[in-house]
Amino acid sequence: MNLIHKVIFDTDPGVDDAIALYFALAHPAIDLIGITTTFGNVSVAQAAINALYLTAIAGRELPVTQGLSAPLSKAPVAPPAFIHGADGLGNLPARRSTGRPLDPRSSAQFIVDSARSQPGEITLVAVGPLGNLATALQLEPALPALLKQVIVMGGTVLEPGNVSPVAEANIWNDPHAADSVFAAPWKLTMVGLDVTHRVVTELSFFETLARRQRHIATDTLLHAVSFYATFYSGLYKHVAKSPGCFAHDLLAFIYLVRPELFTLESGCIRVVCDGLAQGQTILNRRDFIDYPQNGWEASRTRSQVCLQVDAPACLNLLEATLMADWLKR
Ligand code: BDR
Ligand code: CA
Repeated sequence: MNLIHKVIFDTDPGVDDAIALYFALAHPAIDLIGITTTFGNVSVAQAAINALYLTAIAGRELPVTQGLSAPLSKAPVAPPAFIHGADGLGNLPARRSTGRPLDPRSSAQFIVDSARSQPGEITLVAVGPLGNLATALQLEPALPALLKQVIVMGGTVLEPGNVSPVAEANIWNDPHAADSVFAAPWKLTMVGLDVTHRVVTELSFFETLARRQRHIATDTLLHAVSFYATFYSGLYKHVAKSPGCFAHDLLAFIYLVRPELFTLESGCIRVVCDGLAQGQTILNRRDFIDYPQNGWEASRTRSQVCLQVDAPACLNLLEATLMADWLKR
């Protein structure tokens, strides 16, 4: 029997979040049981609106919750409208009315309730700042035993950061939450910039998709990706060659269904919470050394980190999945 992954998607849509969401809805081995939203690329209210909208226009009904609106400790910063658009989806010119309500629970409560009702069955894929997960841990300290695994898009080990020379945006947006998530004893895999910066998704793919799969969902995705690709093509010469973007969050789902496409290392990950290196994810790659510095005790939780990826295979999988017949008409 084929393995079906039950997933809660914790997200801040966001253009690459939208690509990831549609990949998850389209992939036959992924059963999305709920979307929990957070602030990040947009306000949490906008993130929830976008999650409801993206699912509704794709003809899917699943619970969507609203979660944290700000980081646990640090002062909030303005969302990056220049990357994702002020609305998170590249400033859509108009939206169809959908009228679907939110699930009234907080994102953290939804995660806890779902994990308690299906112990050991659910994978949590988190692709925004990690406050919802950190809050769920506070509500239910046994959460690590109740979830099957956690996959985080965030952080970086060897690749330069995207909000500072050392920090990746999701972790930098709430470093205290991230440090508590990496400390918890779950099976956690970090899918960070080390791999997401290796996979360039081209705008031409989304143009072809919208032509072949004529649908409001593929038109919406194309509009959003066009805006986002302008940002990335302006920043990186190799991305501009054939205009495109990094679809960061998508790689978390690709890891879920095709982990063999990634090369992993494991070790304790800590997050720098303050100062110039705020948001840096440090992987202890020498854990046979008994470091005298507090915070690196051998007893600390180890996580897995993706350090290399088979980029062409990821792009082939994206294409095969989104070009298949998954949209309701
Ligand atoms: C991450 O930050 C957000 O802007 C993206 O959606 C992704 O989750 C990449 O650093
Ligand atoms: Ca995201």
